[in-house]
Amino acid sequence: EKGAYPHYMLKEIDEQPFVLRKIIQEYQGESGSLEIDDSVTAAILDADRIYIVACGTSYHAGLVGKQLIEKLAAIPVEVHLASEFCYNMPLLTEKPFFIFISQSGETADSRAVLVKVKEMNHPALVITNVPGSTLFREADFTLLLHAGPEIAVASTKAYTAQIAVLSILAYATGKAKGASTDLNLAKELGAAANAMETLCDDKEEFEHIAAEYLRAAFDCFFIGRSIDYYVGLEGALKLKEISYIQAEGFAGGELKHGTMALIEKETPVIALATQSYVNGSIRANVKEVAARGAHTCIISSTGLEAEGDRYVLPAVHEMLTPLVSVIPLQLIAYYAALHRGCDVDKPRNLAKSVTVE
Ligand code: M6R
Repeated sequence: EKGAYPHYMLKEIDEQPFVLRKIIQEYQGESGSLEIDDSVTAAILDADRIYIVACGTSYHAGLVGKQLIEKLAAIPVEVHLASEFCYNMPLLTEKPFFIFISQSGETADSRAVLVKVKEMNHPALVITNVPGSTLFREADFTLLLHAGPEIAVASTKAYTAQIAVLSILAYATGKAKGASTDLNLAKELGAAANAMETLCDDKEEFEHIAAEYLRAAFDCFFIGRSIDYYVGLEGALKLKEISYIQAEGFAGGELKHGTMALIEKETPVIALATQSYVNGSIRANVKEVAARGAHTCIISSTGLEAEGDRYVLPAVHEMLTPLVSVIPLQLIAYYAALHRGCDVDKPRNLAKSVTVE
């Protein structure tokens, strides 16, 4: 039930800090450290490469997951769109391990790949929000998101839950491999949950940004580098899905290779700057578009901020910034849709779970 909330989407955005705390609780072992069943980490360590397969928002979470797994467990990861993988399968390594990410566990494109993977006898883990769903039943291993039912067509809390579970998987696999780390993931995720709460309490600010940048906009660009690029892709999907504004996520460095031609006077460009090692270069990209008249909105992290930034996010561990940087983008999309009188929870032409290929 959405209770006092006008829309499920807003309620689900607000639930994110609680979902994250629930995930910490569900995955916490007796020692207090975050754990994954040994059978899962052993199967991953037996593989020579991980293939993540998903669609839409879950695919975007997979891109973040790739970075987490490669950093924390040092295992190469490829991320694929299920609908492409199915008909245009890449050359697989000798010992692949598959991770399917699906909120609903019912997405036909992802299931089609799972069926093929099982025919080839490769091991598959499904990360889903729905126990008993088709993908859950057909996988060798499963991890649950514990996000509670997600009703709005636009996925919000499932995305952050997927990233949190992927971070735990990456961390536990790294530990099982004997990688030394001084990361206290439970503590860092707890801090991210608090930061999420701060952002959810700051809705008015994001409503202002939506009004200022998007009320009269025909299009919108989201730019970032590294992990911020992946979050930008998700921000763009959220905005187009519910507000019907043409939106694209771009890697900051790629703009000059073509897309920059689309920048006109007042074109909104929302930039994320949460990663210290690319902070200078993303800011240079913002200057490039601003010089061509773009209406730029920089969302940065505490510690990396510069004069003129529109919003500064609370500091969280640099690897976990997507958990917080996505919240402004979700809320900006929500308010942009609301201002345009769109049906936020049930956007046109879309279904919550896509059960046809
Ligand atoms: O249930 P799934 O995670 O497999 O769904 C995948 C996509 O259909 C889904 O994430 C879709 O992109 C959302 N509506 C985006 O908000």
